[in-house]
Amino acid sequence: MDSRDFTLLLDRFALSAEGYRKVRKGVQKRIVRHMQEVRCPSMKAYLERLQTDGDAEREARRLMDVSISRFFRDGPLWRTLEEETLPSLLAEHPGGLRVWSAGCALGQEAYSFAMLWLTLAGRTAAMPPLEFWATDVNPAYLEQAIEGVYPEGALARVPAEVRARFFRPAGKKSFRAVDELRQGIRWQVHDLTVDQPPARDFHLIFLRNSMLTYYRREVVEAALPAIADSLAPGGFLVIGQKERLPGFLKGFGPHPILSFLYRKREPRMSS
Ligand SMILES: C[S@@+](CC[C@H](N)C(=O)[O-])C[C@H]1O[C@@H](n2cnc3c(N)ncnc32)[C@H](O)[C@@H]1O
Repeated sequence: MDSRDFTLLLDRFALSAEGYRKVRKGVQKRIVRHMQEVRCPSMKAYLERLQTDGDAEREARRLMDVSISRFFRDGPLWRTLEEETLPSLLAEHPGGLRVWSAGCALGQEAYSFAMLWLTLAGRTAAMPPLEFWATDVNPAYLEQAIEGVYPEGALARVPAEVRARFFRPAGKKSFRAVDELRQGIRWQVHDLTVDQPPARDFHLIFLRNSMLTYYRREVVEAALPAIADSLAPGGFLVIGQKERLPGFLKGFGPHPILSFLYRKREPRMSS
């Protein structure tokens, strides 16, 4: 498949050429295999097939998803969440917190947050209740996330004592998240570009390395306001370290050090 063919496919799903630049090869391989399975010898034939065959179209779209993630991805973020963001949210909201991992892939982000939460719970006298959603558009990714089994290499950056507390061996060189970590996570198939947020008044939303990277501007412009709206005033929005919040989104202030952590401003009181 040449780059023109790949661009036609990106166009078909309103996906960003820049976002797919580094992951193109792997995605392309999966699509070529699918083209063979549905006996389409050219991109033209494939696109025509996607037009008339809903199953093939859904499969093609899911094959374009990118599941790359890591536990505690972007280390400084997790330190800031632990030392600054969560302590201040906990102090401000003793009634409980509502958190959303949007585009959670194979679960590493959701379990990272759950590990952090349980670690803080061990040091905090009265930890309030947590409502925690982890959503992704790809049902196969969610199944794996719920299963919570990871190869040893995936846990390389999880500190040894944290790993010993939250993971158990599960077969050859694999580890499984303990029940304590999995309890209470509300896994849900959810399309950020179509569906309404799973709840309202979130105190913290992770929107990292998904919509802002992989979709065209017009898709982001249409979908981002509802996501931003689901954040409570004073709530935090985390995006990917290399992502930028589009200029059209008003009412968010960046963290003084972490350019990818934003706080939603409280509405101004009129005098
Ligand atoms: C590269 S992973 C990022 C995982 C994690 N947020 C992180 O930063 O490590 C991108 C995830 O976004 C999901 N995704 C892509 N489009 C989506 C959409 N429209 N709605 C919800 N999730 C989507 C993909 O299925 C994939 O699991």
